[in-house]
Amino acid sequence: MSGKGIVRLGIWMKQAVRRLGATTWPRRWKESKELAFWKAKVKTDGVLANHYYRHFCTTHFGLAESYYDGKVILDIGCGPRGSLEWASMAARRVGLDPLAKEYLKLGANQHKMEYVDSPSENIPMKDGACDVVFSFNSLDHVADVERTVSEIKRVTRLGGLFLLLVEVNHKPTECEPHELTPKKLIELLKPQFVCEDLQVYRPVDPGMYRSIRADEKFDSPGDTKEPGWMSARFVRTANESSGG
Ligand SMILES: C[S@@+](CC[C@H](N)C(=O)[O-])C[C@H]1O[C@@H](n2cnc3c(N)ncnc32)[C@H](O)[C@@H]1O
Repeated sequence: MSGKGIVRLGIWMKQAVRRLGATTWPRRWKESKELAFWKAKVKTDGVLANHYYRHFCTTHFGLAESYYDGKVILDIGCGPRGSLEWASMAARRVGLDPLAKEYLKLGANQHKMEYVDSPSENIPMKDGACDVVFSFNSLDHVADVERTVSEIKRVTRLGGLFLLLVEVNHKPTECEPHELTPKKLIELLKPQFVCEDLQVYRPVDPGMYRSIRADEKFDSPGDTKEPGWMSARFVRTANESSGG
């Protein structure tokens, strides 16, 4: 076989393995990709930075740090950075991720927060156990958005908050299999959650947090069809008339 033939065969085999993996074990495949991303990040960065979560959990959503005094807070799809280390005033600070066990091996065992190894489709917490639930750059990563939203409704107490940052209007990818829109998400969270504040930021940088900090917002966030980063603050109401 010629050199070109060998290269072509190599590319074909790589694509075949990817197709087989992605279709036969979609969840495992997605998790292996997510983990490979974070392993590479730890290799280049060493200790992963987490200082910016304090701003995004407080000032960004119009909340003082004292708001979290004695509260139970849950970060869904928390990643390995130690997203809740800032919240020493909380009664409990829980990061939930199906890769949590792997993240502990990557350095998360040093963090001052709890890690729970579980997918958000099945949150091992009691009804109404949480005062605040976060999902930052994770809701389009989960396997089942409807089940996840139903679990967020279940574990958030009445009057509690759901703080959401998520990419919207993007084509599905291996690790982000859902194309979400602001309208779809607001409908899905109803009637239990009411949206108090909604913004969609232009993706001026590949990173979500830097794009949001750049503060270039779409004028009609609820109707935008362009890719962007949605930021929304939801409050849990007593309304249970329909939905999950
Ligand atoms: C892009 S990372 C975001 C990490 C962190 N929230 C941040 O903003 O830095 C997406 C995270 O979602 C997690 N994830 C994927 N599927 C999930 C699921 N079913 N339930 C909860 N988290 C999930 C991944 O393991 C990954 O840690």
